[in-house]
Amino acid sequence: MFDLIGQQDDQRPYYDTGGRGRSHAFYTGEEQHQRELERIYRRRWLPVDHVSRFTEKGSYATLTIGTGSILIINGDNGIQAYHNYCRHRGYRLVEEAAGKRQSIVCIYHCWVYDRNGKLKSFNGTYFDHFFDKEKNGLLPVRTEIRFGVVFITFSDDAPDLDASLGEFGEFARVYELADLKCVQAKDYPVASNWKLVAHNVNESLHFPTAHKDLHRITDFDDAGTYELKGDIVGAWQVIRDKYNSVSMTGRSDRAPMPLVPDADLKKINWITILPNLLFGFTADYVMMQWVWPESPSTCYVRHFWLFHPSETARSDFSHEAVFALWDKANYEDWEMCERTHRGLSNPLWSPGQLSLDEEVVSQIDAWVARETADPVDTEG
Ligand code: FES
Ligand SMILES: [Fe+2]
Repeated sequence: MFDLIGQQDDQRPYYDTGGRGRSHAFYTGEEQHQRELERIYRRRWLPVDHVSRFTEKGSYATLTIGTGSILIINGDNGIQAYHNYCRHRGYRLVEEAAGKRQSIVCIYHCWVYDRNGKLKSFNGTYFDHFFDKEKNGLLPVRTEIRFGVVFITFSDDAPDLDASLGEFGEFARVYELADLKCVQAKDYPVASNWKLVAHNVNESLHFPTAHKDLHRITDFDDAGTYELKGDIVGAWQVIRDKYNSVSMTGRSDRAPMPLVPDADLKKINWITILPNLLFGFTADYVMMQWVWPESPSTCYVRHFWLFHPSETARSDFSHEAVFALWDKANYEDWEMCERTHRGLSNPLWSPGQLSLDEEVVSQIDAWVARETADPVDTEG
């Protein structure tokens, strides 16, 4: 199935010219950073979490985007995101990355909200004619669920979510994304522009030099790029003959996920929901890896590892070998990204030629440039 998509490689214009990097200002500038926050991160639907992290009432997670923070919590009407600040004087309410709580207490002056964001009690003297408790709950952020992924948007007129997901649903269906269980989550701070991380995690050209363990198990040469509909990009890569799992041992006795076709049993399908969420779909587990911008020169990566519920239910279930491989590879990657950022921080940086193996890098930059460009003036 996915093979067919991957066979169109040599028909693309990219194969005539390759691609090119972009400017110092595009990768490191404050103005470009502000445009990205305003025109991408505060305008579009953003994938932010997975439903398996919110199985109990009161389960929550927090997330920072730029300098803002949101709280996602499972309340009485399902999973809902809120701005993570107190309605009184703005105190950042929850600093922990995830957990469970039935009420949210602001410890500055003790306003208390319930798991539905409602203000339950407050401190201070107010008359009814100027204070309505009902209007002082946490401010909700529009929230939707698709394929087990939680999406939010800060905008009332964000581009249509389903149209933007395009063909992503086919991958989500085959790997049963909505039913998988997130068994581990880890955040990594990275001293680099977020786009350099997005580039890095979307290409395997650096595997032989940066990741000896990954390179032992996967073949960067047996790989290709998908052409997919929607705001998504993707590539595939093959697992070497003697292995059956992308893990430190290369082997696993986990059953392949039942709907994965034979042609994909020995592949990683790398699919990115633009601009910042990479999925690594393999036959025995799925990874979700976000990069979230903080400043022009800092970001953080949030990485989830998800497995099929029939495997996590086993008494001998272990994801240790999978985590060990990727946790090591992640630190290897951040070093590459941080040093690249230091290189690009030179205002005299001159963009280089990208190879045929780096088409996704070029696609990510082109998409970001398009989303952040000034609208074309059609008057006169
Ligand atoms: S800022 Fe939260 S109670 Fe005052
Ligand atoms: Fe890497």
